[in-house]
Amino acid sequence: MSNQKRDSFSGKFGVIVAAVGSAVGLGNIWRFPYIAGENGGGAFLLIYIFFVIIIGIPVMMSEFVIGRRSGSNAMGSFRKLAPKTSWWLVGLMGIIAAFVILAFYSTVSGWTLEYIFQAFKNSFSGKTHGQLSNDFNNFTASSFHPILWQIVVMAITAFIVFRGVSKGIEKASKILMPLLLVLIIAVCVRSLTLPGASKGLEFLFKPDFSKITFKVVLMALGQAAFSLSIGMGALITYGSYIRKDTPLLGTSFQVAAADTIIAILSGVMVFPALFALGGESTGGPGLVFITLPGIFQSMPGGYVFGILFFVLIFLAALTSTISVLEVVVAYFKEDFKISRLKATLIATISISILGIFCTLSFGPLKNVKLFDKTIFGLADYVSANILLTFGALLIVIFTGWYLGKSKFIDEVKLSCKVNPIVLNSIVFIIKWVAPIAIGAVAIGAFFIKDLM
Ligand code: PFF
Repeated sequence: MSNQKRDSFSGKFGVIVAAVGSAVGLGNIWRFPYIAGENGGGAFLLIYIFFVIIIGIPVMMSEFVIGRRSGSNAMGSFRKLAPKTSWWLVGLMGIIAAFVILAFYSTVSGWTLEYIFQAFKNSFSGKTHGQLSNDFNNFTASSFHPILWQIVVMAITAFIVFRGVSKGIEKASKILMPLLLVLIIAVCVRSLTLPGASKGLEFLFKPDFSKITFKVVLMALGQAAFSLSIGMGALITYGSYIRKDTPLLGTSFQVAAADTIIAILSGVMVFPALFALGGESTGGPGLVFITLPGIFQSMPGGYVFGILFFVLIFLAALTSTISVLEVVVAYFKEDFKISRLKATLIATISISILGIFCTLSFGPLKNVKLFDKTIFGLADYVSANILLTFGALLIVIFTGWYLGKSKFIDEVKLSCKVNPIVLNSIVFIIKWVAPIAIGAVAIGAFFIKDLM
């Protein structure tokens, strides 16, 4: 397939904005605070940042190199760069991961739409933590509304993806991302000015090393992969739309930095307010949906902050759902040689069907359990901690050992002059440090009894 026929991002800024749009989402705002809260706060944050640097950035660069060099989708890339081998299975695993992630991710994105609506109606007002918790449980246990919102999310995502990369994804991200940052900072300021906020900051930034276990390490690695959108080919697919003159090294650093800053800001948004107003750091997935409305409704200006906050999460989720759906659409379109419209429709409908099962697992299907987890819980756990982590491992092994140093360096050098010492260090990390680190966590995790 010729490269001219493919859509491409309009330039360096467009790529960064779209990749940051993919990275920043529910993973930062919904998942990071609750996983950090359950896994030791400051100690978790430290390990998380360590993994972003030694695994996140190398995997991200590898995905960009694989995508741009092949000019193809997540699976086609491996077929092109490693013909007559089984490496395409890594791409297939990525496409399966995209299905699983979007299925449960669209459930939670749908909840944010309901909560925007509830915030508008001022329905959090005057409610205790227990009542808000009941409201959340009743809503998620019902079938009609959660499914309806999920379908709305999928339809909006499909519409943007259908419009194509530069027109749809890039344009949407360019407007949504800066808006998101402004809103997060506004909520952070509010949270930090509450009396007693410093305890929350201490929880987030003061590591208690006695809390580190293998499970905490695995959760930090899974969260880093999930949050950076690595390990399933989203950034291979976006990489295939990156022009040859866009610097891959700088882009990877900027995307990882932006994502990590937003995750930390989400922590700063949640924990000080939570500690100031007496919530629990181990509130689990309900942290954002149960505790924060309670905090907003009990503070001055809370009505507006409540609305802004849920709009903010929804917008962040949308720029991520777009990138996940694009992985599947690009694959269907290019491998089955069908139109973008057909590919988008087939992907959207099939993922939505799986997604409905995730949504129903809070209600009628809540007793359907595998490894003691609901369908939703299993999709959440397996995607981050198994599929993405394993995907990231195979991607660095592919880049470091199959593609090789010289091809990797050639591709990086196309767009910028990089100091040879920096380049050699990155290659060393991709070849040795990242695979050994992920492998060690995977082996360690294998022996943990209460892993699931
Ligand atoms: N990184 C996104 C988030 O933090 O919400 C989720 C995600 C998007 C994961 C794309 C994986 C992916 F390929």
